[in-house]
Amino acid sequence: MKGIVLAGGSGTRLHPMTLAASKQLLPVYDKPMIYYPLTVLMLAGIQDILIISTPEDLPQFRRLLGDGAALGMRFSYAEQPRPEGIAQAFLIADAWLAGAPCALVLGDNLIFGEHLSTSFRAAATRPDGATVFAYQVRDPERYGVAVFDKSGRVTDIIEKPQDPPSPWAVIGLYFYDARVTEFARSVKPSLRGELEITDLNRLYMEDGSLQVERLGRGCAWLDAGTPDSLLQAGAFVQTIQSRQGLLVGCPEEVAFRMGFIDCATLRAHAKRLGKTELGRLLHDLADGVHA
Ligand code: TTP
Repeated sequence: MKGIVLAGGSGTRLHPMTLAASKQLLPVYDKPMIYYPLTVLMLAGIQDILIISTPEDLPQFRRLLGDGAALGMRFSYAEQPRPEGIAQAFLIADAWLAGAPCALVLGDNLIFGEHLSTSFRAAATRPDGATVFAYQVRDPERYGVAVFDKSGRVTDIIEKPQDPPSPWAVIGLYFYDARVTEFARSVKPSLRGELEITDLNRLYMEDGSLQVERLGRGCAWLDAGTPDSLLQAGAFVQTIQSRQGLLVGCPEEVAFRMGFIDCATLRAHAKRLGKTELGRLLHDLADGVHA
């Protein structure tokens, strides 16, 4: 399976911070925001990743991430000239995908919790259909909302409902089979002029092949799209890292744990990060302290 990180958009809710910088490059505690969704795809076992962003911001992502070889990854880049919807990612990625199944993660989503990588790996290896995840929130009207029947099967997904029929928001991580570009081509722009990911998910639902997994209490899902949520995401990462000495969203660590790089390469990354706490934690990892 291949993966896409969608890191464009206009970030208007973070103005003026995003007037001259990409939202997904802003710091979430000690790392650029894009590291968090990127590591989610890596934890799902995906090594071929396309980063989509605006023509202005794409060079900065290239500078940060390169071709991915140092992480045992393959990174490619593509432009989205205007933010015309999340589902547009699959039209932009069409040639690169070349018929492969694909996962998409939003560049401002932070997803963290025990056992999640097992669920993500299972979703990435499921041969048919689509898998998305839902999370209980206090403000479902801001998201795509999933409705379930008594047996837990999804019966409806509604984009930003005024009167939400359930508290279950669909999070920004989606796994699709090889039909995804075909389905994406039949999505029509919504009233706000966007190719909505909810419409793509509805096509899979109508096909009877959409699985919606509910994430429980032990998981955290944050989108860092407003000043408050950006601060909360940073505080969350700081709390976990300083309390447990475990890293959140660190691509070098994930690449090592997934077997994409060896211990010598991990040490080289730790050395490059020099005096930072991140560098020290990576050294500890290489020394087997947190094995
Ligand atoms: P949003 O938060 O919906 O939009 P935005 O980032 O432009 O921010 P704002 O609402 O403050 O103007 O987007 C969610 C994520 O998806 C975010 O990482 C940006 C990305 N995105 C794109 O890259 N292209 C798009 O066309 C859309 C709609 C979103």
